Amino acid sequence: MGGGTGGGRASVAVAVVDADQTSRSKLAMQLGQGATPFASLNDLVPRLTGQPVVIVLGPSYASPNELSAVEQLLTARRDVGAIVVAEQLSTELFQAALRAGIKDVLSIPVDSQQLAEAVSRTANTLIASVAAAPAAPAGAELVADGELARVITVFSTKGGAGKSVVATNLAVVLAQRSSKPVVLIDADLQFGDVAVMLKLSPQHTIVDAVSALDRLDPQFLKDLLIEHKPSGVLVLAAPLEPAFADQIGAAEMMTIVEALRAFCEFVVVDTPAYFNDVVLGLIEMSDDVLLVAGMDIPNIKNVKIGLQTLRLLNTPIEKLHLVLNRANSKVKLDVGEVERTLGIQAESLVPSDVVVPQAVNKGEAVVLNAPKSAVAKSMEDLAGLFAPVGGPKRRR
Ligand SMILES: Nc1ncnc2c1ncn2[C@@H]1O[C@H](COP(=O)(O)OP(=O)(O)OP(=O)(O)O)[C@@H](O)[C@H]1O
Ligand SMILES: [Mg+2]
Repeated sequence: MGGGTGGGRASVAVAVVDADQTSRSKLAMQLGQGATPFASLNDLVPRLTGQPVVIVLGPSYASPNELSAVEQLLTARRDVGAIVVAEQLSTELFQAALRAGIKDVLSIPVDSQQLAEAVSRTANTLIASVAAAPAAPAGAELVADGELARVITVFSTKGGAGKSVVATNLAVVLAQRSSKPVVLIDADLQFGDVAVMLKLSPQHTIVDAVSALDRLDPQFLKDLLIEHKPSGVLVLAAPLEPAFADQIGAAEMMTIVEALRAFCEFVVVDTPAYFNDVVLGLIEMSDDVLLVAGMDIPNIKNVKIGLQTLRLLNTPIEKLHLVLNRANSKVKLDVGEVERTLGIQAESLVPSDVVVPQAVNKGEAVVLNAPKSAVAKSMEDLAGLFAPVGGPKRRR
């Protein structure tokens, strides 16, 4: 089986599998040269050589029964990824496909460009997963034990204040101190960069959770989370394309957080730099809200407005925690002065340090990349507000 996905990715082959000859020829034609048609998986399997292959399954595979055979193949072989093209989309089909490890579900008639993009996305994740350590997300089973996770939302009314740095590092430290899973949700739905900051290539995102809102059981959720191996943090990634953000409103987000908090110890949520329905819903349902402010006048001005808004919304002051980022002596603002201006005391001071962009650019958490740095120390102290070092693992 030769050929490639084009676009300079000749190392990944494409196979079209469908029992119906017309369907598979049509799909193969749409995919262009290099896509090899097969009548069944049984015909294809003996031809697998270890070279990564994206399988495009035709409509004859678009049923829960057929997909269970696909699941076996996908579990057994890390060099194979699959998408399915169905006559009709349904929640049942989506769920069966997700369980089977299928990367994308498209409907007939399928647009050639859409098909090529789905194949290309799958090829990318295949390359990443073949290059990375063994797959299997979230090692242990996820079980709900009746105790709910503490939900911590990281917010700021200023872009670039350091929300994502704080959220990712806090989640990593909390994971080190928790016996149950720690989940990090990227609720910056248009421009989320948690996955990039932790060097993850998510196969599923929050959009998949929205398409199965009525059946978010732990097992299903587990399949949507991607594990940050160095820390064990489980990430629910932001949509891969900004356009998908529209599909997620406050109600959807709250349902997802509620489902996740049933089986983990902490849910940390990263947010965009503005109030919208989703952010307001998150703030309302959170046990704690970290308000991140940089140490300059525009930051302080915006955070002051943010605080006023939160007060107008009757957000209990006890759950707000001010985190002053880039708080060191070299800037001309004094912490005490900032606290007086904002009318709230800082509970965490994070110094400015080049280790932060260095870690970010490597896709690593600062607390793991530069554990001895003052920034790492400040993140550990911040985590101490919620999970003391060496203290009891539960804290509510
Ligand atoms: N304490 C710090 N010292 C040095 N650089 C920092 C620090 N905190 C954050 N940065 C840098 O600032 C940039 C913005 O940080 P981050 O992405 O966390 O902000 P954000 O609030 O999430 O931004 P956005 O609103 O765009 O989502 C990052 O590239 C990071 O490297
Ligand atoms: Mg961010």
